Amino acid sequence: MNEEMETGMTRTVYLNGDYLPEEEAKVSIFDRAFLMADGVYEVTSVLGGKLIDFDGHAARLERSLKELDMEMPMPVDALLEIHRELVRLNALDEGMIYLQVTRGAPGDRDFVFPDPETTPQTVVLFTQSKPGLADNPAAKRGIRVISIPDIRWGRRDIKTVQLLYPSMGKMAAKKAGCDDAWLVEDGLVTEGTSNNAYIVKGGRIITRNLSSDILHGITRAAVLRFAREAQMEIEERPFTIEEAQGADEAFITSASTFVMPVVEVDGAKLGDGTPGPVATRLREIYLEEVKKAAV
Ligand code: PDD
Repeated sequence: MNEEMETGMTRTVYLNGDYLPEEEAKVSIFDRAFLMADGVYEVTSVLGGKLIDFDGHAARLERSLKELDMEMPMPVDALLEIHRELVRLNALDEGMIYLQVTRGAPGDRDFVFPDPETTPQTVVLFTQSKPGLADNPAAKRGIRVISIPDIRWGRRDIKTVQLLYPSMGKMAAKKAGCDDAWLVEDGLVTEGTSNNAYIVKGGRIITRNLSSDILHGITRAAVLRFAREAQMEIEERPFTIEEAQGADEAFITSASTFVMPVVEVDGAKLGDGTPGPVATRLREIYLEEVKKAAV
């Protein structure tokens, strides 16, 4: 068993209080997340066996749950302990921890929320090993994005597991020979399928302001803080695809990509088509700073 874990053959996951081999972790067919996407999630990256921005992810989890009338399944320090234990049990050096909390399995299908007193939440955590996450070669090439209409629901600030449309967006990008899609609503970019979107013009960083139109990225908050500390200028406002195509550079941020340069938008190369200096510098600063603060 131990040997298997070390070679990555059997992963240990967390389910409702137990640490189990992944094949033994089973959830009911009546789980509200399975039937109704009634659940929220977080993705926390792990570098050098340590958690990046754990407090930010825990705070956003609490907020997502609250917006959906759900309680935190346990105190934040207990959640941290589970994250750390999974890192330890799976000897995770570089990768992510996925966490999901659902409204549980009431034993039937009903639109009405079950009584939390009788239907306990489902709590799942698992690791995803991604060696080379920080040293991702894509960061040296930059990624290419297409635009698609943003037809998601209106509460994108809640990190729910309804990811069908973002998933379709990634497939549309792949089909177009690109890496990802930026979502556009009323002519303005909201965010990427699973990341926040930025452009850089004349040294100014432009990214959409926070509202229920986008997810409040934990990486976004950190990157903007580091950019301010480095005296970079920031404008929090929406931008169009045309403005992005005329920008000097662009990038995305998320817990799994950190700061990732974007070199092409809907077929238009930005600058010389290679990662720009602002994105490259921000990636360096971000990785350096968050590693120092990792827990
Ligand atoms: N996605 N916007 C959307 C729609 C996202 O799904 C994400 C994260 C972000 C960036 O948030 P953060 O910086 O907190 O990761 C923005 C995660 C990584 C995912 O779904 O895998």
